[in-house]
Amino acid sequence: MHNKSFLVLGGSHGIGFGITERLLRGGGSVVVVSRTRGQLDSLDPALATRMTHCVADVTTDSIDTIELPEQIDGIAYCVGSIGLSPLRMTKAEAMRDDFELNVVGAMRMMQRALPALKAAESSSVVLFSTVAVSRGLAMHTSVSAAKGAIEGITRCWAAELAPKIRVNCIAPALTDTPLSERLLSSESKRDAMAAVYPLGRIGHVSDSASIATFLLSGESSWITGQVIGVDGGLSRVQK
Ligand SMILES: NC(=O)c1ccc[n+]([C@@H]2O[C@H](COP(=O)([O-])OP(=O)(O)OC[C@H]3O[C@@H](n4cnc5c(N)ncnc54)[C@H](OP(=O)(O)O)[C@@H]3O)[C@@H](O)[C@H]2O)c1
Repeated sequence: MHNKSFLVLGGSHGIGFGITERLLRGGGSVVVVSRTRGQLDSLDPALATRMTHCVADVTTDSIDTIELPEQIDGIAYCVGSIGLSPLRMTKAEAMRDDFELNVVGAMRMMQRALPALKAAESSSVVLFSTVAVSRGLAMHTSVSAAKGAIEGITRCWAAELAPKIRVNCIAPALTDTPLSERLLSSESKRDAMAAVYPLGRIGHVSDSASIATFLLSGESSWITGQVIGVDGGLSRVQK
């Protein structure tokens, strides 16, 4: 990570903030893109000197105005959604919004950042899916569709951009972040959710942030095109 340059979309809270903090601790510089500063002011001031915050909304043209470093060693696109609704109530507009936020935003950012990713000796991109793509979960019509597209794009970009740029994806299950606040708003909800997982708990930010940091580092230099489940066993194991 030392002296490397990273871009974290959605690095102001949740998993993206966890990734930002780890990259800074490893000696990297990070440009964070988000609509608000979120938790960024809680960063250790010594680390914050290597962090730049750009205010932008990935669903608008404001992302075209972000000033990017000339060289980028890694990108994490952590912007995403969990809009749950039964099929009969899912609105076409909500599906379009989820697609715009999760997929079109990632594509626009990649197009802009491509010259800077190519300027690095080798670079790495991490995208985010959800366990609801590989495991059928009720009420996930919109988000599983958008994240399914992200898994397809992961393999497409990994093929198109190899060998210089690696592209991988993390598929978390329920993780304790601002995004999942509503699902974890009481002890009884937390206990009920934890009981669903073979490993007996819901996810922490560090579970996904540590894998993302590994995928952004040279230690994963022979890994590309993969979707890695960080899901307490939910996608593959029945207890
Ligand atoms: N948490 C879970 O249970 C869970 C489960 C499965 C998959 N995931 C996926 O994992 C990824 C990270 O999730 P998370 O829980 O860490 O999410 P989070 O806590 O909601 O954080 C999302 C980040 O994206 C930024 N953001 C949201 N909308 C944006 C926009 N339109 N333009 C620019 N920035 C925007 C937010 O900052 P601002 O609000 O300041 O803009 C924030 O920094 C997402 O792709 C999510 O779909 C999460």
